[in-house]
Amino acid sequence: MINKPYNPDRRRLLKIAGMSALTAVHPVLLFAKNANVNRTPSANFHPDIEIELNLKTDNVPILEGQKTHVWTVDGNVIKGPDSTLKIINQSYLGPILRFQQGQKVRIFLNNQLPAESILHWHGLHVPSAMDGNPMYAINTGETYVYEFEVLNRAGTYWYHAHTHGRTAKQVYSGLAGLLIVSDPSEQALGLPTGSQDLPLVIQDRSFDGNNQLQYSNHMMQRMHGFIGDNILVNGLPDFTLEAASRPYRIRLLNGSNSRIYKLAWDDGSPLVVIGNDGGLLEKPTTRSFVMLAPAERLELWVDFSQKSLGSEITLKSLEFSHGSGMMGGMGMGRMGRMGGMMSHNTLKQGSEFNVLKVRISHRTKGKETLPSKLSNIPKLSHNKAQNPNNPRPIRLSMRHMSALLNGRSYKMNDIRADEIIPINTLQPFEIDNGFQGSHGMMNMPHPIHLHGEQFQIVKREVSSRSSRAYSTVADGLIDEGWKDTVLVMPGEKVTILKPFNDFKGIFMYHCHNLEHEDMGMMRDFLIQ
Ligand code: C2O
Ligand code: CU
Ligand code: CU
Repeated sequence: MINKPYNPDRRRLLKIAGMSALTAVHPVLLFAKNANVNRTPSANFHPDIEIELNLKTDNVPILEGQKTHVWTVDGNVIKGPDSTLKIINQSYLGPILRFQQGQKVRIFLNNQLPAESILHWHGLHVPSAMDGNPMYAINTGETYVYEFEVLNRAGTYWYHAHTHGRTAKQVYSGLAGLLIVSDPSEQALGLPTGSQDLPLVIQDRSFDGNNQLQYSNHMMQRMHGFIGDNILVNGLPDFTLEAASRPYRIRLLNGSNSRIYKLAWDDGSPLVVIGNDGGLLEKPTTRSFVMLAPAERLELWVDFSQKSLGSEITLKSLEFSHGSGMMGGMGMGRMGRMGGMMSHNTLKQGSEFNVLKVRISHRTKGKETLPSKLSNIPKLSHNKAQNPNNPRPIRLSMRHMSALLNGRSYKMNDIRADEIIPINTLQPFEIDNGFQGSHGMMNMPHPIHLHGEQFQIVKREVSSRSSRAYSTVADGLIDEGWKDTVLVMPGEKVTILKPFNDFKGIFMYHCHNLEHEDMGMMRDFLIQ
């Protein structure tokens, strides 16, 4: 008998044949990976703004001495005002993109990296093929053409790599930047502008003895998510802001892979929050500390008017309990050994450390005052939802080397019945992180992000066994307004209402702990 050799081509053929039945039901699945979609601009799209972004390698000064090899984004404006794109000099962060609501934008993305990649516009409501799904990754030398209208309201959004299985490493290497949208009602408020409108991207990184980025891929690292021992702000360590004695609008993005921040001023001044993921809140809210999970944004009104010249104030991350730990099942010996592998790390998740320092270095009078009303946010009504009494579950769980949503791991072209959503509907979801009991061997917080339109948080429920840890973060959660990422603590269930308007096709939902995402804690919805 002759043994037939393994024939990969035949395997692939069978797979495609098997898929055709599916694609008949969901034509969108025809866009398989690396399909040559959006390689050229379309003739019937007339952009107001045209820019070019290049994904490339670079060496930038971060620590004293040797430069650090990074992956980064640079770019230029082809059509539109120069202010559309602001390069942050000497930083691995990509340029800040500034759009106006209603603008039609075309972006040429050129991949000059030695690897495949794709960019996603986090928080933007754009068509499926413009959303940077991993199936659209382009190879070295290829160009992806995005074309979309900016439908979002004014707010602080961002972009980052979203490459299959490589998102964590690519974002860590530098592939991320801010995307700021403005609109007329925001401009009418007279908030601080120009250099008093300050975006600050907070990230953690680890460096080796030669100033090169370190990234470990070992099992415990991936289960917990990467935690670095240097805190960088806008790509710089020991960040000090030279400020004037006047009001500022400060936009914060947590661009870290998995670190969660509990931010507070060291002198006890409260924080005045005016916005979050999807733009301005209805009115300012004052907190003694605020939580900022990976991918979340917060906008602060910070008034230094009462500060004297030369005074300093430090923004810290305070201690909190994140309840991370193994649940039953594993022997202590094994746990101890793996714990030891992590112990080189000095800034543990939930420990206290400094984030940045502000020094009042000049006196000026700012005339802005904090508006008591910031915006109008229509409350989504539960009664208008499609299944008001039957919310779709998103069950979070972790097992040995896998992180799951509803017991499933990410796979391209794998839409299940409960992941199909009728277009132009409002859907309730219950994101359950072990509220009814543990779902796996690990108990930890997960920042859950849904692509597409922003959602609203309806309620949080916490199991009594988790309430002590929860009480260390609860007062800092900003659940008002529009959100695209929500921190779900261990033992917690969060109910959200999310609209699915305008665009059919595939939109992702996943944990924004990027190591979890790459481990499979990610799925697709099909809107049809
Ligand atoms: Cu910020 Cu799917 O990601
Ligand atoms: Cu996103
Ligand atoms: Cu997670």
